[in-house]
Amino acid sequence: MRLLVTGGAGFIGSEFVRMTLRDHPEDSVIVLDKLTYAGNERNLESVRDNGRFRFVRGDICDAATVNELANESDVIVNFAAESHVDRSLEAPGQFILTDVYGTFVLMDAARTHKHERFLQVSTDEVYGEVSSGHSVEDDPLQPRSPYSASKAGGELLVQAYRTSYGFPAIVTRGSNTFGPYQYPEKIIPLFITNAIDDRPLPIYGDGGAVRDYLHVEDHARGIDRALRDGVVGIDYNIGAGGETSGITVADTVLRLLGKPDSLKQFVRDRPGHDRRYAVDSARLRGIGWQPQIAFEEGMQRTVAWFVAHEDWWRPLKSGEFWEFYQRNYKPAESGIAP
Ligand code: NAD
Ligand code: TYD
Repeated sequence: MRLLVTGGAGFIGSEFVRMTLRDHPEDSVIVLDKLTYAGNERNLESVRDNGRFRFVRGDICDAATVNELANESDVIVNFAAESHVDRSLEAPGQFILTDVYGTFVLMDAARTHKHERFLQVSTDEVYGEVSSGHSVEDDPLQPRSPYSASKAGGELLVQAYRTSYGFPAIVTRGSNTFGPYQYPEKIIPLFITNAIDDRPLPIYGDGGAVRDYLHVEDHARGIDRALRDGVVGIDYNIGAGGETSGITVADTVLRLLGKPDSLKQFVRDRPGHDRRYAVDSARLRGIGWQPQIAFEEGMQRTVAWFVAHEDWWRPLKSGEFWEFYQRNYKPAESGIAP
């Protein structure tokens, strides 16, 4: 299989690329990535010299580039997205361009070049807040943030292409993912890198919102399984099945790094903060996938990776990062500054 992996220089995409080249020796990979603030060619250093790998810097919204690369590939796996909820609250426009319009450009090229499969990497956030029970794939999409609405918009186009053109698409909806190479704006790498530097860990609201944290290797394996053994026209949830609060994330990071509880700092809640996501992954389990890395083990490995790779994350926590940080984090109602 010749794969075109869009957004392959990001966190999950780069894990998927490393895994594909390692586990599927017949396959080749072209990565198309715009290298936004979240993309990083260093994430692909270990495969740079692999003869079955090629990197192209470009935008999925650019039809000419996408068509050229679609002509040289058999399938597209689309990871490219703006992916951070807090940034989507501040500036939604680029989310709509990349996550909605970009998905259209990719599907159109895949259709022109008669690809047999298209995999759209989506998120459990499209279901919206789930106060009880678990989301199954046929539940309605009820996104509540500009990020999740943009991802849902991309998905609705996928559904329309399936219906209108018999477009051979598979959608995966993964839960919150963590592990090496994650840009340090998301909660787990942010808390780890802040704690290493004895900076406060900013916990939104009461810290009671829960997420189902999935290790990036398990997520990439799930996408690989859906791509190769999934049924075209079907959506697959990917979740580990846990429920971990913001406070528990902070406590775990502080315990593993031997840092004091006083680094926990409650800050003003995120507007529209979804209290809980929870997916039922029985469908993907039914085709042979299951998570292999429990939260505690994944956290131990992730903390150890960030401790050992300061050269990777320190340059990312500069300039624009702190400007966004200052704008984003506000004192809790109690008045304590972050
Ligand atoms: P990320 O932000 O680390 O990476 C996104 C990548 O896409 C970056 O390399 C960026 O440069 C690239 N990109 C952005 N806009 C582009 C454009 N217009 N053209 C080409 N490339 C572009 O994101 P991630 O955490 O690796 O997430 C990957 C995918 O998985 C996203 O679609 C996201 O919605 C989905 N997802 C993420 C999580 C999570 O917890 N991180 C969970 C479920 C689903
Ligand atoms: P995040 O990593 O931004 O992922 P998402 O919002 O896409 O689920 O946030 C995960 C959870 O952690 C969410 O409940 C918000 C919370 N959170 C904090 O408490 N503090 C932070 O600084 C961040 C980034 C998130």
